[in-house]
Amino acid sequence: MTDQEREKTMDEKNNNSTSVSKESNQPFHIKYRPKNFDEFLGNEETIESLKSFLARENRPHTYLFTGPSGTGKTTLGRIIAKELGCHHIELYEMNTADTRGIDPIRQVIEFSRYVPTMGKCKVFLFDEAHGLTSDAQEALLKLAEEPLRYVYLIFCTTKPEELRDTLKNRCQTFSLNPLDEKTMKVLILRVLDQEKAELSPGDLESLIKSSDGIPRAAQMLLHKIITLDKGERERILLSEAKRATLKERIIELCRIFLSEPVRAEQNAKWEEIQEILKDPYSPPEIIRGLIRENMAEALLNVTREDLRGRVNEIIGYFSSGGKDFDKLRLVEVCHRVIFGIREKGKQSQVKGRTKTSASTTTT
Ligand SMILES: Nc1ncnc2c1ncn2[C@@H]1O[C@H](COP(=O)(O)OP(=O)(O)OP(=O)(O)O)[C@@H](O)[C@H]1O
Ligand SMILES: [Mg+2]
Repeated sequence: MTDQEREKTMDEKNNNSTSVSKESNQPFHIKYRPKNFDEFLGNEETIESLKSFLARENRPHTYLFTGPSGTGKTTLGRIIAKELGCHHIELYEMNTADTRGIDPIRQVIEFSRYVPTMGKCKVFLFDEAHGLTSDAQEALLKLAEEPLRYVYLIFCTTKPEELRDTLKNRCQTFSLNPLDEKTMKVLILRVLDQEKAELSPGDLESLIKSSDGIPRAAQMLLHKIITLDKGERERILLSEAKRATLKERIIELCRIFLSEPVRAEQNAKWEEIQEILKDPYSPPEIIRGLIRENMAEALLNVTREDLRGRVNEIIGYFSSGGKDFDKLRLVEVCHRVIFGIREKGKQSQVKGRTKTSASTTTT
């Protein structure tokens, strides 16, 4: 479980408790979760469009929020439940990571039969909706197709491609993107202001860099470092920022490995790779691990057979590591990948492929 996932679980637990006294100890991403549209930063166009849908007389009853983890999907779901006049008791939040099958959905259908008694509507919010089984999605389809006047369905997911098209087509979809650096700065300064705390310009810059546009990541890291002394805070922020930069560079490196035509433009590709490998903060063994992580991700997402073959081949190049995997070995292996030179000194050039098609993303 990553730090973010652990905090998220805590978030869900805290969400069930109504105690306000604990507020001062709460992690920032819970304490400062936006409660209305005005507090929700960034993604302006999406928010404007969402607001205009909500203002319609025949507003949609089924919503889908997509986007990377920590960009505000659940938060928006809760905000619109409130906008729709839903009482919090009649907001049913389900994390489908735990309740993915048909039984909880039968319960949803049962609950939806009774008119709301506390607020104007009932809202069913499905977090991690891609976890819903096919049967569960099928069962929800009917509710989505003929929604009752007072029933609203909200689906949140980082993986919309895993939802059935029939269900997706019933939803009004809104995609959230990571925040740009300017908006991230506003978010961080707002928390600092409310906490009556300050960061040096260098620390602020490192925090923005490290959080990679993800509000939850920024708030969690800020909470972690805010009470530390100046030196320790700077040390943690710098190392997080370096890690973020390194990750970005490795994603770029993998993109070059897989960019098309796969075997062509080798010299130009090698020049780009040389620049990346000159980065002074790159422990070779960590780079090897990151390349393998990216390639595993690519393997899960690439559909074309020839590209899958290429991904597997690259994984093969980076399969053995350990303490012998030093800078020289890293550079040498990257060189082999680009120029198609096989291991064990065979020096056989792999024939270039001519087939080209749309570019592939590796992350
Ligand atoms: N646009 C935003 N403006 C301000 N804060 C935000 C914004 N988006 C997210 N946050 C902060 O990030 C936290 C996490 O957001 P949220 O739980 O809504 O993300 P999510 O997209 O549902 O993530 P996951 O996919 O992991 O479920 C919120 O509690 C809030 O503090
Ligand atoms: Mg969520």
